[in-house]
Amino acid sequence: MSYNTFGHMFRVTTWGESHGPAIGCVIDGCPPRIPLDVSDIQPWLDRRRPGQSKFTTQRQEADQVEILSGVFEGQTTGTPISLLIRNTDQRSRDYGDIATRYRPGHADVAYDTKYGIRDYRGGGRSSARETAMRVAAGAVARKVLGAGVRIRGAMVQVGPHGIDRAQLDWDLVNANPLFCPDAQALPVWEDYLADIRKKGSSIGAVIEVVAEGVPPGLGAPIYGKLDSDLAMALMSINAVKGVEIGEGFAAASLTGEENADPMRMEDGRLRFASNHAGGVLGGISTGQPLVARFAVKPTSSILTPVPSVTREGENVDVMTKGRHDPCVGIRAVPVGEAMIACVLADHLLRHRGQVGS
Ligand SMILES: Cc1cc2nc3c(=O)[nH]c(=O)nc-3n(C[C@H](O)[C@H](O)[C@H](O)COP(=O)(O)O)c2cc1C
Repeated sequence: MSYNTFGHMFRVTTWGESHGPAIGCVIDGCPPRIPLDVSDIQPWLDRRRPGQSKFTTQRQEADQVEILSGVFEGQTTGTPISLLIRNTDQRSRDYGDIATRYRPGHADVAYDTKYGIRDYRGGGRSSARETAMRVAAGAVARKVLGAGVRIRGAMVQVGPHGIDRAQLDWDLVNANPLFCPDAQALPVWEDYLADIRKKGSSIGAVIEVVAEGVPPGLGAPIYGKLDSDLAMALMSINAVKGVEIGEGFAAASLTGEENADPMRMEDGRLRFASNHAGGVLGGISTGQPLVARFAVKPTSSILTPVPSVTREGENVDVMTKGRHDPCVGIRAVPVGEAMIACVLADHLLRHRGQVGS
């Protein structure tokens, strides 16, 4: 049994704990002769890196990736690609308090109940530190997909504050620390998050990821549906509590006429007049942009005491000191993009395996 691996032909296994010496991943199935070096991976990790603004955890990690295998003279060889990031800013003492006290909303109680042992330092394996390796694998996946596929994510809601879709500007996303695509929403979010942070509290968010240039035909009927694999991949990210494709839950309040994406042939090419489906029909990509959203819960580690229990069954109140993101949705943006890249790379290779290119 392996629960640390996902994907079929582009297969990613991650390993490591938050406060261990290092974290890493192994990517098996990457095609050979793809140019790859650290500079293809590092910029994506830098976007996820903690300690970059007052709105994310002040843990300082360089997140410097090393390629240990699978690359020779700047090209992938078709053998397993092993990537490693050394942990450099582990402060286990911040977590001594929660060695025996379960943080409400975190994985502590579930891990202990299941395994009877857990590395409590920074949450161990349940820490989102693991998501750095997803971002690294996502960078390799982007190389497999090629420059024709563009995957971009943005935060579209923070707490009660959503964006105005008419203002959506993708160029703004990488120019601000909140991955906000709406110039008017940005100052509102900054003030709101500064207040949340000051109170030692936290808040949830919604992230949208759009993949353009996805070729039609990726995904397979029934148990190989592209949308079900996307949902699994996004739902596997720490703190994600909801996933939508296309209209998502809003489709429930649409009529058939409103939800249908009309089709016409134009200049010998199939054209859709809208994209309520989010780029997938019958589990197979249509060639339209793939649109996925996911909801991230508020960070469970907060300074307000919350009733909880200890390992020994004692009633206590738990407040979590240490360094935490007031809104983990911010750093989940690059992670969501990476998971979509990995799923698309996997399905591209699976499609080639069955149907050819
Ligand atoms: C990028 C990112 C950073 C996170 N940072 C923290 C954090 O600083 N403190 C915390 O309590 N949870 C954090 N989380 C969420 C926990 O990892 C997550 O809630 C925990 O593993 C329990 O899993 P679940 O929420 O999916 O049930 C983060 C999540 C993400 C995606």
